[in-house]
Amino acid sequence: MPSVYLDMDPGHDDTLALLVALASLKVRGVTAVAGNQTVDKTSRNARRVLDLAKFPEITVHQGAGKPLFRPLVTAPHVHGSSGLDGYHFHISSEEQEIPADAQQWLEREFSQNLDDIYWIATGPLTNVAAFLIGHPQYLSRIKQLAVMGGALNQGNITPYAEFNFYVDPDAAHWVLAQEIPVKIVGLDVTHKALLSPYALERFSAFESEVGRMLHNLFAFYFKHEPNRTSQGVPVHDVLAVGAMVHPEFFSWQRVNLMVERCHESYRGQMTVVPGAQNPSTEVAVDVDVDSFFEWMWSMLARLQS
Ligand code: RIB
Ligand code: CA
Repeated sequence: MPSVYLDMDPGHDDTLALLVALASLKVRGVTAVAGNQTVDKTSRNARRVLDLAKFPEITVHQGAGKPLFRPLVTAPHVHGSSGLDGYHFHISSEEQEIPADAQQWLEREFSQNLDDIYWIATGPLTNVAAFLIGHPQYLSRIKQLAVMGGALNQGNITPYAEFNFYVDPDAAHWVLAQEIPVKIVGLDVTHKALLSPYALERFSAFESEVGRMLHNLFAFYFKHEPNRTSQGVPVHDVLAVGAMVHPEFFSWQRVNLMVERCHESYRGQMTVVPGAQNPSTEVAVDVDVDSFFEWMWSMLARLQS
């Protein structure tokens, strides 16, 4: 698989997704979007995780500070005021400035690098939609877009909507309406693949700064993720990386989808639109949890060497 582009709003589970992507893919760069926290914080968090994991050459580009047409809704109750509460990053005096050039950087990348485009989005789809609306010539180059978002019959921020699609339903609806290959990894599967509380010990057992960071981050996250159970906590975003690398871990349904943008009570709700045309969108309806986590841990182990 050629190189992959990441659009994220780190965020605890985005951080796990970023690390697993670094271990399993060639990451071209990260664009940060407002979602779990404001975009200055999500950008800074992505930079700090890359630096701590010793990937200083991978660039971070700040993107949209708010949804396409609506005020921003963040999730400090889940990810804290920093967006990555629980771990105190060493702040280097040479900490890089983060360019607010996500759209320009994507344009440079896609115009100079003529490979098929592989893209993983784990936050609200604002950056992705804004770029493709402004640059439709790249729609046909998208080989696979993997999205963490949506749900067929549940919600986490409301009973009907998943957070990423709730924050920017207009962006989500627009992206799902394009005839591009999209794999949707929603709550239907992320609420099945719960990270066990024993993960905290496994993170510590890495005996690395990455392990210490993950332990401290997830000690916080285990206390704050609203859908946690005694079995564990959903780690949503890392399953979107799994869908890109190992789609065979999942069961897929090829469907036409829409996202509610008008009725505020149902804002962000994803629903199947019965239609004859051949949908290019697949939604994950099941996941081989054991195979997924076995792979995830093997990827994290690669980063410890
Ligand atoms: O609903 C879960 C999604 O919202 C994840 O991407 C999490 O990071 C939050 O952004
Ligand atoms: Ca996220």
